[in-house]
Amino acid sequence: MDIVSILVMNGPNLSRLGKREPEIYGNRTLDDINKELADAFTGVSLDFFQSEEEGELLEKLFHCEDHGGYSGVILNAGALTHYSIALRDAISAISIPVIEVHLSNIYAREEFRRTSVISEVCSGVISGFGANSYHLAVHGLTGMLEIE
Ligand code: DQA
Repeated sequence: MDIVSILVMNGPNLSRLGKREPEIYGNRTLDDINKELADAFTGVSLDFFQSEEEGELLEKLFHCEDHGGYSGVILNAGALTHYSIALRDAISAISIPVIEVHLSNIYAREEFRRTSVISEVCSGVISGFGANSYHLAVHGLTGMLEIE
């Protein structure tokens, strides 16, 4: 069976994990989380991308669709989740599945975080399991792609 490729994307401020509000987001850095994911899923090819810029995330999604050879994307869009119609439209514009991920439970936080403008166009949503949210997302996505 061909090895499946998944892109794990993180948006604004997620480069600060480990230092940023550890009581909410935990002590692991994004590098720690990415390494643990790669170690846990040796049968899946995982690539990682993080940007503070909305436009770069959009371009990466389009690149994935057109040239990337990825079967799906796991996306923690950070605060863009709550207001970026451009990101929502980009997810709608591509055909590969995108799984929305959050470390914190956005539905148990401030009111403005309880709205996700991207959930409706994502294939699944995982929120509130800390770093484990990414692991659950890889499980869910590989299951969805029927390659687990
Ligand atoms: C987050 C939740 C968002 O509300 C916040 O803006 C983030 C991180 C999470 O992973 O819990 O940057 O996406």
